[in-house]
Amino acid sequence: MDKIVSLCRRRGFVFPSSEIYGGLGSSYDYGHYGVLLKENVKARWLEAMVRERDDIVALDSSIILHPQVWEASGHVGGFTDPLVDCRHCKRRYRADQLDASQCGQRPSKKPGETSDCDLTEPRQFNLMFETRVGPVEETGTKVFLRPETAQGIFINFKNVAQLARRKPPFGIAQIGKSFRNEITPGNFIFRTLEFEQMEMEFFVPPASASEWYRTWIDERLAWHTRYGLRESHVRVRAHESDELSHYSSETSDIEYLFPIGWSELEGIANRGAFDLTAHTAASGTKLEWVDSASGERYTPHVIEPALGVNRSMLAFICDAYHEEVVGDRERTVLRLHPRLSPVSAAVLPLVPRDATMSEKARALYEELRQVASVEYDDSGQIGRRYRRQDEIGTPFAYTIDEQTLVDETVTVRDRDTLAQERLPIGGVRSHLLEALARPWQRVP
Ligand code: GAP
Repeated sequence: MDKIVSLCRRRGFVFPSSEIYGGLGSSYDYGHYGVLLKENVKARWLEAMVRERDDIVALDSSIILHPQVWEASGHVGGFTDPLVDCRHCKRRYRADQLDASQCGQRPSKKPGETSDCDLTEPRQFNLMFETRVGPVEETGTKVFLRPETAQGIFINFKNVAQLARRKPPFGIAQIGKSFRNEITPGNFIFRTLEFEQMEMEFFVPPASASEWYRTWIDERLAWHTRYGLRESHVRVRAHESDELSHYSSETSDIEYLFPIGWSELEGIANRGAFDLTAHTAASGTKLEWVDSASGERYTPHVIEPALGVNRSMLAFICDAYHEEVVGDRERTVLRLHPRLSPVSAAVLPLVPRDATMSEKARALYEELRQVASVEYDDSGQIGRRYRRQDEIGTPFAYTIDEQTLVDETVTVRDRDTLAQERLPIGGVRSHLLEALARPWQRVP
C-alpha cells in the first residue's frame, strides 16, 4: 500500500486533504490524473448499467433529504458502530475491532493491554453526519448528509417508474457522494469520511428476487474483470446471517485482494420489500407496482449492487501496479485498462527544439484530443517522458522523429509490451480509436 500511496502522491492522483493545516484523517483530495481516472471508472459503470441495457434508467437525487427518510430507512435507529473510548489516552476504537487497533501509548499495544488503559463499555455511535437547514442554528431543522445514495432512489420509485414507463424488472442507477463518520482508520482511500457510490436498485417481482440476486452477482463480477481486475484477485463471499444489514435477506460481497488483505469491494444485497414498504408506511404514498392492464399490484423486491467509486479506483490501481527492470533501468508502470487510463495517448516530439517536428507533433495532438484524452509532452529526455507516461498508465505514446519528416510516419510505443512500430501519421487517429474499442488483454 505504501508504494501505491507514494505513486498516487508523486503523480498527483490523490493527496491528503487539508494538508497545509496538518491534514484531516480519512479525507483525500484528487488531483488531475485522479479525477480523470475516477471519471473513467464512473463512465464505464454508467455505460454498463444504462447505455448497454434497456431496463435501467439514471437518477441524481439530493444529498440532503427529508429527515424522515432516515427514520423510515432505519438509519437513525440502526446505522451504528459499537465504540469504546479510552479515558486515559482519549482515543476511540471500534469495539468489534479492538484486536486490529493500536493503543495510543508507546510502545503501542492493543487497547486494553497496558495497565493505564481505561476503556468504557461499548456504546452505539451513529455514523451519519448531522447538519441544520435554516439560518438560525437553534431553530433549524436537523438533517443528515446521506450515508448511502440508495434511499434517494427508493423515495423516487413512483416518479421514475411512471416517467420512465418501465415495469419490473427494471432498475434505477445513481452515482453520487455519500458521507459516513467512520472511526476506523481508513487505509488510504479504502475507507474515507466522504466517498462516491455507484448504486443500482433493481426492482423485481418478488418470486424472481433470488434469481436476480444471483444474476447481479455474476454481472458485477464480470464488470470488474472486464476492466482489468485479475480473476485470481476477486472472489465472492456470502454474508453469514449475523452479518446481514437490517434490510437484507441475502448479501454477498465481491472481495478484492487489496494490499491490506481480502476486503469488500462491492456489496450485492437482496433488500426484499423492506425499503418500499417502510417508505410507504412512513410517507403514506403507496410505493408499489400496479399493472394498468391486469390490475395486478405488488410491492417489488429490490436487488442492489453497490460499489464505491474511490474503492473501485483503488482496486484498479493496485491490480495495475507493476515494477520491472527493462535493460538496466527499473520502471514502474500502471497497466490500467486503456478505457480507464487517465490519459489515452501521449504525443512526443523526439527533438522539441526542432520546429518542424514540434509543429507536426502539435498538429497530431490537436487532432487526437478531439476524440480522446491526450497529453503533449516535450520536456526532458524521451526515456524520462516514456517513464512519466508509464507511471500514469498511458497505453500509447506516438513519437514524432526524424523519420517522420522524411516519410510522414510516427512510432507508436505500447506501454505493456514496449513494442514499437511505425504507422502513417494519417492513420494514428484510427489506430487509437480501434485500440480503445478492442477488448483488452492483460500482458501476462
Ligand atoms: N446501499 C448499500 C450500501 O451503502 P455498503 O456496503 O455500506 O452498502 C457500498 O456500501 C459500497 O460503498 C462498499 O462496498 C464500498 O465499496 C463503498 N463504501 C462504503 N463505505 C465506504 C467508505 N467509508 N469509504 C469508501 N467507500 C465506501
